[in-house]
Amino acid sequence: MKKMAIVLAAGKGTRMKSNLPKVAHEVLYKPMISHVVDVLKEMKVDRIVVVVGHKAEVVQGILKDSVEYVWQTEQLGTGHAVMMAKDLLKDEEGVTFVLCGDAPLVRKETLDGLLAAHEEAGNKATLMSANCDTSKAYGRIIRNENGVQGIREFKDCTPEEKMITEMNCGEYAFDNKALFASLDKITNNNAANEYYLTDVIEILGSQGEKVGSYVIDDFNEVGGINSKLDLAEANKMLQKRINREHLINGVTIIDPDNTYIARDVKIGADTIIEPGCILKGNTVIGENCHIGPYCEFTNVTVYDNVEIKFSVLSDTVVESYTDIGPYARFRNNCHLHEHVHVGNFVEMKNADFGNGSKCAHLSYIGDASVGDNVNIGCGTITSNYDGKNKFRTTIGNNVFVGCNSNLVAPVTLEDDAYVAAGSTITKDVPSWTFAIARERQVNKEDYAKVLKEKRENLKK
Ligand code: UD1
Ligand code: CA
Repeated sequence: MKKMAIVLAAGKGTRMKSNLPKVAHEVLYKPMISHVVDVLKEMKVDRIVVVVGHKAEVVQGILKDSVEYVWQTEQLGTGHAVMMAKDLLKDEEGVTFVLCGDAPLVRKETLDGLLAAHEEAGNKATLMSANCDTSKAYGRIIRNENGVQGIREFKDCTPEEKMITEMNCGEYAFDNKALFASLDKITNNNAANEYYLTDVIEILGSQGEKVGSYVIDDFNEVGGINSKLDLAEANKMLQKRINREHLINGVTIIDPDNTYIARDVKIGADTIIEPGCILKGNTVIGENCHIGPYCEFTNVTVYDNVEIKFSVLSDTVVESYTDIGPYARFRNNCHLHEHVHVGNFVEMKNADFGNGSKCAHLSYIGDASVGDNVNIGCGTITSNYDGKNKFRTTIGNNVFVGCNSNLVAPVTLEDDAYVAAGSTITKDVPSWTFAIARERQVNKEDYAKVLKEKRENLKK
């Protein structure tokens, strides 16, 4: 059966007190709306329609062309928002999820459960509900002897209805055609003067169609985020959930409260994550690694048996048996091969660094290809930038670069070349060649005594 989804994301989110539209705010380093869309993609939903309105261009900037868009220029209610998708979807046969863009913690398993309940019961509409304490202002589920009768919005509830604990999560599965047929019948005749999507349930029921509910245990999974306070709580909840899964899968996390692993990150068993790490983006870490303390990884691939501490890495691949840090920085497409050692205060950018090569201290390697078994001495700099353009440095295998050298790109050091410490290399160095590019040393015998006398005379 064809699966569609409509994600509501047109609202402003006034209570966020922010310039960003609500669904663009990040929960564990990923925009809320991307959490929802990624779960739908995981479920292989055929068409995903996102209803945008307030600052639509920001939401589109996040999701790009991975979804279809419809515009709701005036926010007249959740029912009105869904109606915006009518032209796109009305002729489809199948099931349509309606989800809130501000409920990012929803899991695939939960939506799978909603769909299964919907299909097994043969419903035209299935709402998701959970039991909450009556202080909450969510819509109440009204039941009669036949089951679900409808949803009453909190603002429209009688005092007795406010005592109902079964509440509407705002996540639904509909028969697509029945959804759009009944949406034509809703009005804004209610306390908020809005077109409520929730009225569709009662309309369908009164036409003799089957409607039902899928009751979940924890409302928090789908509770909408309305303020920065909610956002901080959602971050904590997701952090806990993700870290728990990694712990169950055999990852050691020394201090889970102080470790932030984003939703899409994968980590192999027997890897140890020390406190203070932030792992995000499409980061994949292998088995038996030792990461942290205090590392930030964004889109980093780490093979098995790697050790990295106190370092910031983005868009980088690190192969096995390599160790990095403390205090190293890698960015823009770096690739470290096996058995590499990179130590204190080394920065690399767009660099390929070969098997067994070493760069132990205080260096900048940018726009460079470095072969195998190369030793980059302390304080080596690739001068890759002339103020306007970037140039490449190419280093062969078994090259030795002495301390405090400048390699002025474009330049090539061929296999087995040797650069003397303190050299500024501007010309290519052929294979097995020793390059020395600095002033020769002059020793002036006894001249230190003359200097001392001069100093002492100055003091008088
Ligand atoms: C909605 C439900 C309520 C449920 C609650 C769960 C209705 C009428 N009520 O209430 O029963 O308990 O969710 O969280 O549906 N949006 C638009 N356009 C609009 C209005 C809203 O895109 O015109 C979007 C918002 O940006 C948001 C989502 O729809 O992402 C939910 O809207 P919101 O106003 O927060 O609904 P609630 O009042 O929370
Ligand atoms: Ca809400």
